[in-house]
Amino acid sequence: MSGPAPLLPRSGDKRSSRGVCRPNWGDRLHATTEGPVGSEWQTLSDEIRSCTRCPLHRTRAQAVVYRGGPNPSVVFVGEAPGAEEDRLGRPFVGRSGRLLDESVAGLGVPPESVGMINVLKCRPPKNVFVERSVAACRPYLDRQLALLAPGVVVPLGAHALGTLDPSAPRITDAAGRPRTAGPWRLFPLLHPAAALRSRRNLARWRDDVGRLRVFLDAPANG
Ligand code: URA
Repeated sequence: MSGPAPLLPRSGDKRSSRGVCRPNWGDRLHATTEGPVGSEWQTLSDEIRSCTRCPLHRTRAQAVVYRGGPNPSVVFVGEAPGAEEDRLGRPFVGRSGRLLDESVAGLGVPPESVGMINVLKCRPPKNVFVERSVAACRPYLDRQLALLAPGVVVPLGAHALGTLDPSAPRITDAAGRPRTAGPWRLFPLLHPAAALRSRRNLARWRDDVGRLRVFLDAPANG
């Protein structure tokens, strides 16, 4: 039986002494403009970077704002930055981001029409999602989405889905099916880190990404 497609190293990726593949983001980092052009986005991004509203600012290297094009039609919403994101200041630049990038490349959407943000802008210690920090960070998420104004929002995992749509069923039931929350058309997916945890989850992730592709292909969502 053939397993799920491996996450293949690309040219320029480095291997650590333990054989872990470390992506070479150098050539991919500056592929797109970082967000909408204009002073409102700039002001918001500066506010996020200097935020001290919750204790997470004390342990972050830097706040993580956005990765993607200036006018995205699809915005992926993750939970919180991890170690690589904290180091580089951009969402989804670690292992989860690699799966996400591969999957996005297969969606048939131009890279500049995609954006990535997180519910929490600062890395939680030990990467444990800090529910108590959501209230402080929530206005940033709302303002980012209002300025980005995507046609479709993709919450990744239970925390992102629960933040955007508290009445949603659990992520394993909601993933791969469109739903509406306030002004947003949502298309939830498992969190990519969860997808990478087992072959079964990865197969589910790939199926759901295929459904997202069909959904985005529909004339009403184009
Ligand atoms: N990286 C992010 O930016 N967000 C996540 O939720 C996970 C990894």
